[in-house]
Amino acid sequence: MNLSYRLRLLLVMLSICVLVGGGLFFKKLLIPDSFGAYGPYRADAIKEAVLIPIRHRTNTSCFKCHPYEAKIHKKGRHQTISCEFCHGTYADHVTEGKKTGTLPVKKEKEITTLCLRCHNTEIKARKEAVIKTVAMPNHLKDQDVKLTHNCNQCHHVHAPLKYIIRAKQITGMMEVGS
Ligand code: HEC
Ligand code: HEC
Ligand code: HEC
Ligand code: HEC
Repeated sequence: MNLSYRLRLLLVMLSICVLVGGGLFFKKLLIPDSFGAYGPYRADAIKEAVLIPIRHRTNTSCFKCHPYEAKIHKKGRHQTISCEFCHGTYADHVTEGKKTGTLPVKKEKEITTLCLRCHNTEIKARKEAVIKTVAMPNHLKDQDVKLTHNCNQCHHVHAPLKYIIRAKQITGMMEVGS
């Protein structure tokens, strides 16, 4: 029961050793090897980030293989819009300069949904001055067409005002016999 003074001192010293030793051991275990090489972060994270494959590219990267669409797109009001926004990711389509995958191409109603993601009057975050918006179905009523008309029946998707077909033409062209 009555431990001698020396024994108690020894025990205290021992537990300090165990605590410090254990602390150092876990510190070594938990801190990654390259931590602190350049600053208070894991230096290897840079090497790893460099190896992450690039998924998105600029429109210019699409142009060389799609000269037809490029020509139209560059002249139209959509020239500032990313091809990838409407078609999906470069990396899903091209690997090492060759076409390796098919990109989705929207059609019919899907196109209208796509257009309205940016042109819906309901989008209050964008100022009218930046992107002109339309109210649906009023826009179609104004043009005197059926509400089933899709945007691309009048607007070219790649240059929406360039080849615009006036509503009268459209009604004449599309509504006959329908
Ligand atoms: C605002 C959305 C939008 C943007 C931006 C856009 N496209 Fe499209 N694109 C479409 C839609 C919708 C279609 C299919 C409808 C159609 O042909 O009228 C299409 C059709 C195509 C097609 C023909 C696909 C096929 O086989 O039918 C190609 C190729 C294409 N786009 C490439 C591009 C490239 C390259 C760019 C950028 C320079 C681009 N697109 C920008 C919406 C867009
Ligand atoms: C290395 C050449 C190459 C590049 C770069 C390229 N494409 Fe294509 N793309 C093709 C070929 C080849 C086809 C099939 C033939 C065609 O429709 O012209 C195609 C077809 C498409 C189609 C029709 C659907 C499909 O996948 O078959 C779309 C949409 C399209 N490309 C969009 C794009 C967009 C957007 C980019 C840029 C992000 C792009 N392409 C970059 C070669 C390319
Ligand atoms: C990613 C957002 C986005 C999508 C999707 C989009 N647009 Fe646009 N659109 C714009 C922007 C931004 C402008 C204005 C460009 C400028 O003024 O530089 C524009 C311009 C226009 C204009 C000309 C309006 C004007 O007088 O300035 C029309 C018409 C139009 N888009 C129709 C369409 C149609 C039809 C579709 C679907 C095929 C579509 N847009 C899809 C962003 C988009
Ligand atoms: C029946 C043909 C027709 C259809 C379908 C159509 N539009 Fe239009 N749109 C027009 C005409 C015509 C204009 C006026 C163009 C002009 O002023 O030269 C116009 C103008 C616009 C403008 C510019 C508005 C402004 O304030 O200047 C936008 C944005 C637009 N349309 C988007 C769309 C979208 C999105 C769809 C599909 C939901 C669509 N349009 C469907 C014929 C049509």
